Amino acid sequence: MSNTTIKTEILIHDLKVPISVIDAGAKSLLNRRESYGPLTDKQIKVLKRIIRNTVATQRLVNDALELGRSREGVMYTSDFSIAKLVTIVLMEIFDLAEPSVTEVIKKTKSYRELERAIYANGVRLHFEKGVWKTIVHLDEAKVRQILRNLITNAFKHRAQYVDISGSIIERQLTLKVKDDGRGIPPADHQKIFETYFTTGSSIESAIQSHGLGLAGVMVLLKDMGGALVLESDKGKGAAFIVTIPI
Ligand SMILES: Nc1ncnc2c1ncn2[C@@H]1O[C@H](COP(=O)(O)OP(=O)(O)OP(=O)(O)O)[C@@H](O)[C@H]1O
Ligand SMILES: [Mg+2]
Repeated sequence: MSNTTIKTEILIHDLKVPISVIDAGAKSLLNRRESYGPLTDKQIKVLKRIIRNTVATQRLVNDALELGRSREGVMYTSDFSIAKLVTIVLMEIFDLAEPSVTEVIKKTKSYRELERAIYANGVRLHFEKGVWKTIVHLDEAKVRQILRNLITNAFKHRAQYVDISGSIIERQLTLKVKDDGRGIPPADHQKIFETYFTTGSSIESAIQSHGLGLAGVMVLLKDMGGALVLESDKGKGAAFIVTIPI
């Protein structure tokens, strides 16, 4: 690793401390009103927003560190179920967009309940029972990061729906994330995987879009010996299909 890379990574790593201080402070104001004093509804709303965004920042920091770890070829494999993987990623995504849905997801106890909880928000699950319950042995942080990026993109670009499906065939895990948005013209199929290529252009989306998500997905996939297929055309939605050997 070059010196600059190490410096950047340590800097990113050190962001963890001030972020948790902000997080803890906001949570104290919100949850310990007997010692910090009462809050108006507007103040509660702002504090909740601060907390949601500290969570988002913590996630970004972890993702950045995860990429560094991946580049060095470090793997931390463990056993986890497809059910846990998908449920946690959905909770992370809704936590930012629609926190009340995350609360509902947390309480679900079965595939059917989860399916129902997110259907109203345009997310449809297609997993066979056997696949859903399967325990895989992979680097969970990496697989989560891949899935989170694909679903986040699908959310950004969908017209109404995001379909998430998965299968396991001959020791290969396949996850598919499909949306019904404006799609990606063939001319851009290569470009979107390059670092810093993004079509997010307004100031609002400049904050949200760095053009790094898919480049990161490719790094992580490569390290796990996986592959990605994109099926999309202009106006026809987009489907990102990743395959990872178990
Ligand atoms: N589901 C999708 N539908 C249409 N276009 C997409 C979709 N997913 C990605 N793209 C295109 O690919 C580009 C690159 O995606 P990528 O995830 O790398 O970056 P981003 O989403 O713009 O920003 P970041 O992920 O860094 O926040 C996007 O700007 C968009 O143009
Ligand atoms: Mg993205």
